[in-house]
Amino acid sequence: MSALSELCQEILVCPKCQALVENRTKVVPGEGAESADIMFIGEAPGWHEDQQGQPFVGPAGLFLNELITSIGLRREQVYITNVVKCHPPGNRDPLPVEIHTCRHWLDHQIELIRPKMIVTLGRYSMAMFFPGKNISKIHGTAHKQADIIYYAMYHPAAALHQQSLRQTIEADMLRIPSLLAEVETVTEVKQQSKQLNMFEV
Ligand code: URA
Repeated sequence: MSALSELCQEILVCPKCQALVENRTKVVPGEGAESADIMFIGEAPGWHEDQQGQPFVGPAGLFLNELITSIGLRREQVYITNVVKCHPPGNRDPLPVEIHTCRHWLDHQIELIRPKMIVTLGRYSMAMFFPGKNISKIHGTAHKQADIIYYAMYHPAAALHQQSLRQTIEADMLRIPSLLAEVETVTEVKQQSKQLNMFEV
């Protein structure tokens, strides 16, 4: 069993947040390619996800699938997870203490997958990687830290509630391939100049 599968097995039986443990049907650790270049991080499982144990399988998930297809990828080629791995009762927002308690699972997933890009979906995951920022100002922008590009997007569910955001979200998604390609070019150039330096006296 891979280290990521082992980690997901541990997440499945996490006993830490009493209110979530008592209300959940299934824990939703995340799913996708273990060596994915892109990791999408949402908020918390909704009702559908809680029933099925898979992330983004409800209406927001259908839109996310369309967005992934729009950049020439399949869902199985990326990794999809959430800040909090259990469905909050009554679909309430996750509490700060729940986000804090669940954080180490996400950190460990990131360490194992080592994605080139982390796409934050909505304000909860944005707050983790773009602290103090406002989604309406920074959606569609990226920053790089320790070899990972962090890219902020609106949550796909936002388009379901506010039709005018749909085109914005679609346009933000379409920037991902060129951002990734840019990073690959910079990395190649760096490697080439390192190799050249080896021959310098
Ligand atoms: N919304 C999320 O943030 N995550 C899911 O998995 C589903 C809906």
